[in-house]
Amino acid sequence: MSACAAVTDRLLDLIGGHRVTATICAAVEVGVIDALAAGPRAASDIAADCPAHEASIKRLLTALVGLGICGCVEGGQYQLTEMGAYLAQRSESSLGDWARFEGKMLVRPWIGLSDSVRTGRTSAEIAGSEGGRYEEIRRDPQAASLFDAAMVSMTRLVARDVLAAYNFGDAGRILDIGGGTGTLLIAILGAYPATIGCVLDLQRCEAGAWKAIADARLGPRADFLAADFFVGLPSGFDTFLLKSVLHNWDDAHCAVLLANCRRALGRSGRVLVIERLLEQFQDASSSHASTALNDLNMLRGPGGRERSEQAYRKLMTDAGLRVARVMPAGRYHLVIAEPQSIPQTAVYASGAEEPPAGRRRNG
Ligand SMILES: C[S@@+](CC[C@H](N)C(=O)[O-])C[C@H]1O[C@@H](n2cnc3c(N)ncnc32)[C@H](O)[C@@H]1O
Repeated sequence: MSACAAVTDRLLDLIGGHRVTATICAAVEVGVIDALAAGPRAASDIAADCPAHEASIKRLLTALVGLGICGCVEGGQYQLTEMGAYLAQRSESSLGDWARFEGKMLVRPWIGLSDSVRTGRTSAEIAGSEGGRYEEIRRDPQAASLFDAAMVSMTRLVARDVLAAYNFGDAGRILDIGGGTGTLLIAILGAYPATIGCVLDLQRCEAGAWKAIADARLGPRADFLAADFFVGLPSGFDTFLLKSVLHNWDDAHCAVLLANCRRALGRSGRVLVIERLLEQFQDASSSHASTALNDLNMLRGPGGRERSEQAYRKLMTDAGLRVARVMPAGRYHLVIAEPQSIPQTAVYASGAEEPPAGRRRNG
C-alpha cells in the first residue's frame, strides 16, 4: 500500500466515525450484546432471542468482529471480546447505557456542529428552545432517563479512579453538587463506612437517587437535596464534589456556582473538581482528541467547555478559592481547592512544589 493510500484510508475511517457509534448502539439496543453475555452463540440463536432479522444480525455481527467488539469461534459461533463484554448490562462496569446515550441522544445535536462553530451558540439556542440542556431534559422523561443512566455508567468507572487517587478518610460531610442520581457519592460512602453525605441536584434526579441509595443500603448515611446550585448551597458540609459539572457551563455560570461554594464552605472546607483537563500541548494522541471532542460536545450541547489546568485555577482564584493540589485520576483530574484565607503552597499536576510539611494533605 502506498503512503498516500494509508493516509486516505485513515481519513476515510475518521470521516465514517458515526457508523461505529451507530453499530455499537444497535448491538446494545437490539440485544446482541446481552444475548452473548453468557458465552458463544450462533447468529441464528441470537436472532431468535432478540428477536431480530437473522440475515441482518449476521451482518451486524460481522461488523462487530471488525470493530473488535465480538470474535468468531469454531462452529460459526460468535463471542464477546474483553472489550465487548464492557457493553453487557450484567457487567459491573457496563458502558451499554453510554453507548445508547451517544447513539440515540448525542448524535442528533452533533449533526449541526457547523452552525455552533459559526455562531458560538448551542443547538438549543440556535433552535430557539428555552432553558438550555437541562430544561430540555426535564421536559422529556425518556431523554432524562437515558441521560441519567449514561452518567451512572460513566461515573461508576471514574469513581474507581477517584477512589484510587484520593483519600476521603478526612472528608467529613460530603456534598455531591450536581451529583445526578448519586453514583460518585455512593461509591465514596461504600468505601469509607464512617463518612456521610448528600447529593444535590434538580428535582428530576430525586427518585433515581433515593433508589440508588436504597439499593446500596446506605440508609441514613446518604441524603438527597433537590435544589438549584446557582441559587445557593447549604452550609454544614466539609467537602464539596463537582464532577462533570463545571464543564457544562461558561465562565460566568461557573463563577456564580463557585462563589456559592465559597460562601457555603466557610473557612475550612474544600472543593474537589473532577474533570478532564485540556492539555497544553496539542497533538494527535487519543487522549487529546477525546478531551477536545468533549469540548465540542459542550459547545454544541449545554454551552460549556473543557478547560486547561490554568483555566480552572483562574476560575477558582476569581471565586476566592486557592488550588491546593491537582492530581490525575485515570482520564480525569482532581482539582482540589480551599478557601483563599488558608495559606498553602500551590502544587501543579506536573508539579515540583509540595505543601509545607505538617499540613493535612490528601492523596
Ligand atoms: C453532566 S451531569 C453530571 C452528573 C454527576 N456529577 C456525574 O458526574 O455523574 C450534570 C448534573 O448537573 C445537574 N444540574 C444542572 N443544572 C443544575 C442546577 N441548576 N442545579 C442543580 N443541579 C443541576 C444535572 O441535573 C446533572 O445531573
